[in-house]
Amino acid sequence: MHRQEEAKGLRKGWIIASVFLALMLVLSACGGGQKTGSESDKNVLRVGTDAAYPPFEKQEGSGEITGFDIDVIKAIAEAEGLKVQVEHTGWDGLFEAVDSGKVDAGISAITITKKRKKKYDFSEPYFEAKQLILVPNDSDVSSLKDLKGKKIGVQSGTTGEIVVQKAFGKTYEGIRGYDDTPGAIDDLVIGRVDAVVADNGVVLDYMKKLPKGKFKTVEDNSFEPEFYGIMVKKGNKEVLDKINSGLKKIQEDGTFDEIYKKYFGQDS
Ligand code: ARG
Repeated sequence: MHRQEEAKGLRKGWIIASVFLALMLVLSACGGGQKTGSESDKNVLRVGTDAAYPPFEKQEGSGEITGFDIDVIKAIAEAEGLKVQVEHTGWDGLFEAVDSGKVDAGISAITITKKRKKKYDFSEPYFEAKQLILVPNDSDVSSLKDLKGKKIGVQSGTTGEIVVQKAFGKTYEGIRGYDDTPGAIDDLVIGRVDAVVADNGVVLDYMKKLPKGKFKTVEDNSFEPEFYGIMVKKGNKEVLDKINSGLKKIQEDGTFDEIYKKYFGQDS
């Protein structure tokens, strides 16, 4: 009786000890993992983008993401002694990725708007843009209001969509929302939509690539200046400060102007 109980007690002790040990191991592994994680995170700026908006961002055949924005964020990171890791998230995916912390920042020709500012923080503006209408060359459209009754392609969730909704109402049946801008342009080319409204830099870039003489651009004086900013999660001051500091450095040392010239052929 006595010996049996002693054995039981011993076994119990062993079980408790090994459970304790296992727990310690798990805890230390977690703690260790977290530590190296946040340590390396601090040196790597994880950036999301919708890499389908040339010349700001695009994905090359090889999968490499390039463009004006990418050069800008790389230069900012370099100025701050950070490594940068750029990933294609898509447009809606970009906002989600910033929300969830999957990326530290988003650079994607993102217009700083009042609405977006409620949920995100933005760097100092780094680029000025405007909406621009793209139509077939023989189109009779010469202003935004001429698009009334026509099918208009926009990228969903962009300021292009907003200006069209403002002009014709949120439920305007002619509006066609696309996941990305190239999708809208493709449909314009095959005549499925009558016009595309998007940022001027992108529309002008497409003008160079589309068949010569087949398309034209139309401005509208209701289009207001827009300013692009680099987006972080609201309150992420640590990352935002670094981005703003790096942006300032590259604007002051001429790097920004060099990048600007490379893509737009003149001084910013
Ligand atoms: N500037 C516009 C906006 O903020 C369009 C940006 C779209 N960017 C992109 N990479 N698809 O709504």
